[in-house]
Parts: sequence; C-alpha cells; structure tokens
Amino acid sequence: MKVNIKKFYRISEDFKRYLVSDKKRFNSLKKLYQSNKKYFGKKILDIACGGGVLGFILEQKGHSYVGIDINPDMINSAKRYAREIKSKNKFIIGDVTKKKIAGKFDTITFLGNSLAHFTTFDFVDLLENIESNTHKGTYFIIDYRDVVTILFEKKWKERMIEKKRGEKVLSVTKGFDSKKGEIIKEVFNEAQKKKVKFVHAVWAPFILEPIMNLSGWKLVKRKPAPYWQGWLEVYKKR
Ligand SMILES: C[S@@+](CC[C@H](N)C(=O)[O-])C[C@H]1O[C@@H](n2cnc3c(N)ncnc32)[C@H](O)[C@@H]1O
Repeated sequence: MKVNIKKFYRISEDFKRYLVSDKKRFNSLKKLYQSNKKYFGKKILDIACGGGVLGFILEQKGHSYVGIDINPDMINSAKRYAREIKSKNKFIIGDVTKKKIAGKFDTITFLGNSLAHFTTFDFVDLLENIESNTHKGTYFIIDYRDVVTILFEKKWKERMIEKKRGEKVLSVTKGFDSKKGEIIKEVFNEAQKKKVKFVHAVWAPFILEPIMNLSGWKLVKRKPAPYWQGWLEVYKKR
C-alpha cells in the first residue's frame, strides 16, 4: 500500500524527531557511531537519512557524507542547517529504491528502523539501485524492528494512544497483507483532526539475512537494538 510519507511524519510521527535539533536523536546516533567506528569508512552514503543528523556527527570526525531521503521536510531542514554551519555534506531528495546516486561509498547506513517503510519487494529494488554505489568491502549498517518476534511474544499493540509533540495520537491496527508483508495501521491525530494510513513492513533476521546474502552481502555483526525492539546488523560486500 502506498503511504504518503510527508503526511505521516506531520500527522502521526513528528519529523522534528529526526532533525539535528533533536538532542536525543543526535546522542543516540553519536553512540551508534562510537560503538561501530571500525565499520565507518571515508565515504558514507546514508539512505533514508531523515534530517541528516548522522552526517553532521560524521563530518566532525572527518568522513564525507551523502544523505538521501524522500521527505522534503527532512531534506529541506538538513540543507538549511548545512548552509548555516557551512557543511560540505550533500543531501538528495528522492526515493532510494529508484533514484540514481553518483559515486562509490565505503559505508552505507540505513538507520532508525527506516526498514519499516520498505517491504521485502521494495528492499530488493533498493539493493539493486545502490549496487553501483558499492565496492568489495563496503559495509552496510542497519538497525530495525523485529516484528516477527514482537508478534510471537504478543507484544504488538493493536491500539495505542501516544503523545507526539504534545498532541494525542491514536493508532489502530486494521489488518495484515501477507502478500506484501505489511501491517496496515490507521492513525488519528486528535489535535489536528487528521487521519493518515501507515503500513509497517514485517522484518526479522531470518528474512533480511538471506536477501542480503543473495545480493552479495555477508553478515559480520548482529547485536540486539533494544530501542527498536530489534537488531543492529553490519554486512560486508563480498
Ligand atoms: C524513522 S526515519 C529515520 C531517519 C534517520 N535515518 C535517523 O535514523 O534518524 C525514516 C526515514 O525513512 C524515509 N523514507 C521512507 N521511505 C523512503 C524512500 N522510499 N526513499 C527514501 N527515504 C525514505 C522517511 O522519509 C524518514 O526520513
């Protein structure tokens, strides 16, 4: 099902949570970098980069950085901040399953459970699209929610009321599309009086790893990522 990402990050999620101004996001990406430094090469491609928070951390450490995201709210804010601090980081707006990106990279990052937006079909397209941006030895760093375990442990919340940017947001699970592997949700923002559809793609290590293997990526690290109720994984291109 097609989701309007821009609308989703205005009505349900808050895109501001993924901007450099968000100290929590900044600190957790800084920590992720510090614990995985050896996988960060000189040139980094950050796919589904949000507001490019990781890029502003990496630039201070001497890495070059290109970020791509489909959401104009995120990319415009990243570009604005980059201009403000005279950053050399580059930001591209586009769908990472389709948009051609120039250059070869030593590390590809795909963080913050961005995988939730991609079905297995989309992800295969994504891997094909970025193939020309990789070389032997490129690392791929990903963290994502393990929805299969959450469902098995009966921890998936069918109805949730959360406060987002001070607004009451109600999300309800409406169904599951097993041909696509998508959980269909409907979200209602009470303050804005607006509804938005959202789908959360279903992933687990036993789904991701064989897809990565088929595209020439070998698992070199897997570690629980409690914040996402999932995993942080690092793959290396053979
Ligand atoms: C949860 S945010 C994570 C942002 C950032 N990686 C971080 O960790 O702070 C997920 C991001 O995926 C982006 N996204 C979703 N579908 C996309 C697509 N097809 N192409 C590029 N970006 C996409 C969204 O716009 C959003 O910025």
